[in-house]
Amino acid sequence: MKFFIDTANLEQIKEAQSLGVLDGVTTNPSLMAKEGITGHDNIMKHYVAICNIVDGDVSAEVISTDVEGMIKEGEALAELHDQIVVKIPMIKDGIKAIKYFSDRGIRTNCTLVFSSGQALLAAKAGASYVSPFIGRLDDISTDGLGLIEEIRLIYDNYGFETEILAASVRHTMHVIECAKLGADVMTGPLSSIEGLLKHPLTDIGLAKFLADYNKGN
Ligand code: E4P
Repeated sequence: MKFFIDTANLEQIKEAQSLGVLDGVTTNPSLMAKEGITGHDNIMKHYVAICNIVDGDVSAEVISTDVEGMIKEGEALAELHDQIVVKIPMIKDGIKAIKYFSDRGIRTNCTLVFSSGQALLAAKAGASYVSPFIGRLDDISTDGLGLIEEIRLIYDNYGFETEILAASVRHTMHVIECAKLGADVMTGPLSSIEGLLKHPLTDIGLAKFLADYNKGN
């Protein structure tokens, strides 16, 4: 399972990268705004800065909602760095843009996916990644993890190569459940990755080992 971090915060990306288990980064316009990154040129520079920290894929989202605009923006984003994956919303023009990029070998991440039908369409269009937002489904009392399970079944039935990128991951149990269900990738906050480290018996065990060592030295 690949681990992506879902942030535009360079310090958190560096921290996750330093663990040695980071496979990529996802961003979106809200995450960029949260870091105060505004204006076309600053946003483009920020994507390059992120690519220079991580070894893996960096999702950069288009703002246009028409196919011509998405193609223009997506081509410029893909030119920025070979780690860039063009993130495109699940709308009709988005599907057309994904097909256009797929035919030209430009990688895409289909975002804002909330149903298995949408995921099927994204795969048919040739998306490299599909991003079901499990946390936002849970927020409205719907089964986010159930969607991952459905998409896994559908993709396996037909051998689609589109990778299931479980997005809107909120906590460590989401990560574990997504791994059990066979999601290819998860993207979440740094805390969802660091939470995997924690177990009280590890802390108690280590304290005892160190105390016993110190008794004899
Ligand atoms: C995915 O690519 C999105 O950036 C993200 O996971 C959305 O998460 P949120 O629901 O926590 O905003």
